[in-house]
Parts: sequence; C-alpha cells; structure tokens
Amino acid sequence: MRDEIPFTLQYTDVPSAWYNAVDDLPVPVPHLLDPITREAVKRADLETIFPRGVVEEMAALQRWIDIPEPIRRLYRRWRPTPLFRAHRLEQALDTPARLYFKYEGVSPTGSHKLNTAVVQAFHARNQGCRGMTTETGAGQWGSALALACRWFGLECHVYMVRVSYNQKPYRRVLMDAYGATVDPSPSGKTAVGQALLRGDPDHPGSLGVAVAEAVEEAVESGGPWSFGLGSVLPVVLTHQSVIGLEAMKQMELTGDEPDVLVGCVGGGSNWGGFVLPFMRGRWGGGPRVIAAEPAACPSLTGGRYEYDTADSAGLTPLLKMYTLGRDFVPPPIHAGGLRYHGMAPQVSALYAAGLIEAVPVPQLEVFTAATQFARTEGIVPAPESAHAVAVTLREAARCRQEGTRRVIVTNISGHGLFDLSAYGDFLAGRLPDLSTPSSSS
Ligand SMILES: Cc1ncc(COP(=O)(O)O)c(C=O)c1O
Repeated sequence: MRDEIPFTLQYTDVPSAWYNAVDDLPVPVPHLLDPITREAVKRADLETIFPRGVVEEMAALQRWIDIPEPIRRLYRRWRPTPLFRAHRLEQALDTPARLYFKYEGVSPTGSHKLNTAVVQAFHARNQGCRGMTTETGAGQWGSALALACRWFGLECHVYMVRVSYNQKPYRRVLMDAYGATVDPSPSGKTAVGQALLRGDPDHPGSLGVAVAEAVEEAVESGGPWSFGLGSVLPVVLTHQSVIGLEAMKQMELTGDEPDVLVGCVGGGSNWGGFVLPFMRGRWGGGPRVIAAEPAACPSLTGGRYEYDTADSAGLTPLLKMYTLGRDFVPPPIHAGGLRYHGMAPQVSALYAAGLIEAVPVPQLEVFTAATQFARTEGIVPAPESAHAVAVTLREAARCRQEGTRRVIVTNISGHGLFDLSAYGDFLAGRLPDLSTPSSSS
C-alpha cells in the first residue's frame, strides 16, 4: 500500500486565530432577532443566556479572531488532527477519484465538539460562573462540554434527548465519568419538560426541546449558570474553523487541489468549520461543496428558509435558517447529532443562494457506507459523520462512471465507538431505514 502516513502538521501549526467568514460570504447573513420584538437582538439579552466572552465573539466583525493562549494550549492536546489519503477505500471502490479525509475523532471525547466546548467553558469560567447547562443528542456535544467544564473547574448539567439517552447509555456514562449531571429530555425538571411530559409521558425528545430545557435552567438561575450551545450559532462555526485551516495546510502537503468538499450537517458547525476557510475568496469558482443530511431530518432539502428559534419553546434568539419547524420531532435515527430542526445561518444563506449542494441520505445507506469505511480505513465513523462518507461514496461512484479523477476531501467529524449497538443492529439486519421524516410511525 502506498504511503500510509497521515499528512501531519506540527503542534506549532495549530492556528493562532479563528476564521470568521461572515463578512467574506458572497451573500449577507441576516442578524439574530429578539423572539418577542423581532428587532436585532441586544447584547444584554444574549448575555442572560450565553457567556459574555462568547457574546463578544458573536459581535466581532473582524475576519481573524485571536485564539486565547490557554485555548491554544488545550488545542495542542489533540490538534492538529490528521488528514489521510484513503487508498484502501479507493481501491475497494475501484474509483479513479482521490479520496482524502480529515479526522476529528482523535479528540479526547471523540469528535470536533471539543473545539468549541473549551472556548465556551473558558469564557464561562472567566466571568465567574458556577456551571454550564446544555443539550445533547447522541452525547458527543454533552461529553465535550462535560470535559471542558471539568478542565475549567465548572459544574455541568446536560439535558440528553430521551431517545439517545436510552439508545446510547455509554455516552451517558462518559459524561458521568467527567463529573457532569445528565437528565433525559424532556425531563421533569423544567416547565418546558413538564408540559411536554403531561402531553406524552413517552415523548422521545428532540434537540430543540433539550435546548429549551437547558436555556430555561440557565436563565432562571439569574447568572451563576450559563448555557453552552454545540452548533448552529455563527460563532460556533468560527470556533470550528481550526478544522478547515489545518486541512488547507495539509492539502498543500499532498500536492492535490480539492475538487469536492463533503461534510455532514446537523446544525452546520463541523461542515462550516471545515468548508468555509477553503472557500474564502473562491465562491462561484472553487470546489463543489456538499452538505450531507439525514433523509429523516432534512433541514436543508425539506425545510423552509425563515426565522425560527434554536429551541422548541422560543426562548433563544430567532435565526434566519432552513428549518423543519421548531416543534419538529425527528424519527429516532442513530445519528442523534443530526436530529435537529434548523441549520446555521451561514450554511442556510449559502444554500438559499444556490452556492452549495445538499444531499439527504437514508439510514441504511449511511450504515452501509460506514461499514465499508471501517473495513477499509479502520475507523468506525460516528453515524453523523457516516452521512458524509455515504455522499463521498456516491461521488466516488460518479467518478468511476464518468472516468474522472476528482479530488474529494471529506471531514469525518467523530468516531462511532459509542455507537456500536447501532452497528450491531445494522449488521444483524435489524436497523430500519427511516428514510423520510414521517417513517418512524
Ligand atoms: C460526530 C458529530 N458529527 C456531526 C454532528 C452534527 O453537528 P454539526 O452539524 O454542528 O457539526 C454532531 C452533533 O452532535 C456529532 O456529534
């Protein structure tokens, strides 16, 4: 096998600044609005929910935002993350395409989520918070914030979407191990959760509901607790830009130029962090960019472009985004991190302008692709990341049919070692396809 070596950077190559793409995009990204007045949201209101330092970064207009040194030092524990050429996968697919993947699963908690979790916990600690509340789907974000809070001496309370809480007990144990408190959402601990449980004691939950519960707790605390959000906010995509900035340097080492960039989208943070740095100054002429989403929760391909809140109860600011509606309860697909009704404003604005592509993928195709990736490249991708793998496989097949030798670069946002029961069900033929938003019933 030709070079098995990853395209490795030095720890000194960890970026010193995040890339804030908002003013570089060829389309304007509409501002966040207050959910009651529908006027531009005030900083003071945002500070009742999020840490002040995060709100300051949200307001930043400059293209480059210096990464505070304590964060850069922490990043060096797992960054730069590797980029590989997928020779074995190419061979198995008999494709002339050249396939590369950036791998975020090497972080201590197993995904890209730690890239922003440490920033949010850092700011919460700096303003003297006692702890952070948050939501989580499959548990990747919850475990990242649990560890980040632990590193900064904060408590952490996680509302975990009930269906994932039951499907993925070991992610829950991981959060417990880091010292966080985890409740299934809807829970009986908040007004939002109590109301939903009265209507349906077996409510499966959704990320929108879990966000509402976590925001309610933080706001009601009146200050000592702040809320952390793992995706959708423009600033989270900015924090995740370390992925793309490193991948660009690594692609220079390969001598290849990307023709296609692929990532999965839940709220859009790993995709945005990966793609936006590559596309700076190249919109309209650069590589094709593809967002892979679940067919069962197709925010981009099945949603409407309008203002909606990030949570189900209307507590967060309104974001202009593709949304399935904040009340949408997705079928219980295993990619819990993609079971989200909305999409980051940058991703939404680009899709509305026809500058990016979106592809919905059904669950069985996702796990078929994931298994092929595991058997060739050795990495068991998270079910979320496996959506990107599935689209990559479709693109590689297209190259074979057309006889074209495109360079396809894919972001693998995390590993799936806590999702092995889902893999087990798939391998035993027990996994339903859940290929449409209503196919769970
Ligand atoms: C591994 C992994 N990938 C992707 C996502 C989707 O989030 P985002 O679109 O913000 O990257 C999640 C969310 O939990 C995740 O855990």
